[in-house]
Amino acid sequence: MKEITRKHREKIKAQKAFVLWFTGLSGAGKTTLAIALEHSLHKMGKHTYILDGDKFRETLNKDLGFSLKDREENIRRIGTISLATVDAGLITLVTLISPFRSSRDSVRAMHAPKDFIEVYVNCSLEECEKRDVKGLYYKARQGIIKEFTGISSPYEPPINPEIVIDTAKLDLKSSVQTILKYLKANKYI
Ligand code: ADX
Repeated sequence: MKEITRKHREKIKAQKAFVLWFTGLSGAGKTTLAIALEHSLHKMGKHTYILDGDKFRETLNKDLGFSLKDREENIRRIGTISLATVDAGLITLVTLISPFRSSRDSVRAMHAPKDFIEVYVNCSLEECEKRDVKGLYYKARQGIIKEFTGISSPYEPPINPEIVIDTAKLDLKSSVQTILKYLKANKYI
């Protein structure tokens, strides 16, 4: 018997599968934005799934810390899962600091060219630190948390992302609209 392929899975869902890869500092608004966007896509009848860095760090990636090597491995694993979810025909939203250009580019290279959409959730360190939703920036400044992104570990902004969302300037609704507009203009949805 012939295998069921991605094409069949996309067809039954009446959609194209792809990845929206949200990268940005802790507290920039990646998860908030992905959840709001997923609501909109869901309302449109799209089949979606969020791969959230924080959640995977409690399960599959429990063995990983925040060294450069461990972050690379974190990104590699979630990137690999995103390949599987795209093959399953799902619109996949990944929310991961993913601070290294080289790691993000490796994941991009795993995917077919049009399947990977990098969304830079741009928010200045000052603003993220001011928000400090989880109180982690304070702890990082105190030296209680080591290797904290933006403070004691690097963040390399994307050079050529498909989409940039400035969460300090744009409200949530407009941010979602910006992404939807891109997806429609480029015939993803
Ligand atoms: S990544 O760098 O490997 O992509 P990931 O997105 O999985 O990071 O996890 C980031 C989350 O872990 C942050 O939102 C924060 O809640 C938590 N965290 C704990 N320690 C650190 C740290 N040293 N640097 C960054 N985030 C940390």
